[in-house]
Amino acid sequence: MIISVTSLKGGVGKSTIAQNLAVCFANSDYKVCIVDVDANQSAMRWSGLREDNLPAVPVYGLTDGMELSKNVKHLNQSHEIVIIDGTPSLSQVTSKIILLADLLIIPILPSGLDIWATEKFLERYQDAVQQKEESIPARFLINQNQTTNLSKEVLEVLEQTGIPVLKSTLKSRVSYREAVIKGLGVYEYKDEKARFEIAELFKELKSVIQHISKRK
Ligand SMILES: Nc1ncnc2c1ncn2[C@@H]1O[C@H](COP(=O)(O)OP(=O)(O)OP(=O)(O)O)[C@@H](O)[C@H]1O
Ligand SMILES: [Mg+2]
Repeated sequence: MIISVTSLKGGVGKSTIAQNLAVCFANSDYKVCIVDVDANQSAMRWSGLREDNLPAVPVYGLTDGMELSKNVKHLNQSHEIVIIDGTPSLSQVTSKIILLADLLIIPILPSGLDIWATEKFLERYQDAVQQKEESIPARFLINQNQTTNLSKEVLEVLEQTGIPVLKSTLKSRVSYREAVIKGLGVYEYKDEKARFEIAELFKELKSVIQHISKRK
């Protein structure tokens, strides 16, 4: 199963979400890896800080777009879950990442400006669906949420895209920033609320994955 975490916007939490989900999978005994396609190599650096006694999350830096599809498919044969940490660029790599995905997670910050910025991304997504000639399951994930109830306005705009919004959201928490520099996911960190939040997201995602696998 290939899960691509991608969007055309920078700084929306792609790497944070890819790492934190990978940690949840690893702690549930899944054989998981991350593919880092970003030239900044944030996931690579994070994994360099991860201690050996923790559940393994190998990270592969694949910045060469040419070989990307072949290499990712190869990794998908030896891992149950491959999580692609996307780049914020409009390059062809983004289209490839969308095409490769069994499930697309699109992080988004709950602000009008960020939502409008998804329009270009949605064009890419529609092109990929046409090219693949089959649906590519996708979900929005609201990151850095600061309210208990998401504003109706934000949800309404997102719903118009036809891509469902995950019920679980991630709040803006210092723990996400702290855990990363220790090579951890918040699931392994001291903040109970963050741990609960990521576990809830993981649960919801597993049920989405089950649903997708059944349809295949
Ligand atoms: N839920 C959160 N709470 C607090 N800080 C967060 C949260 N999610 C992400 N961040 C912080 O926001 C910044 C951007 O996050 P991240 O690097 O994951 O985004 P990105 O989409 O991968 O960025 P890029 O497009 O540059 O690759 C980082 O400093 C990260 O620690
Ligand atoms: Mg990143």
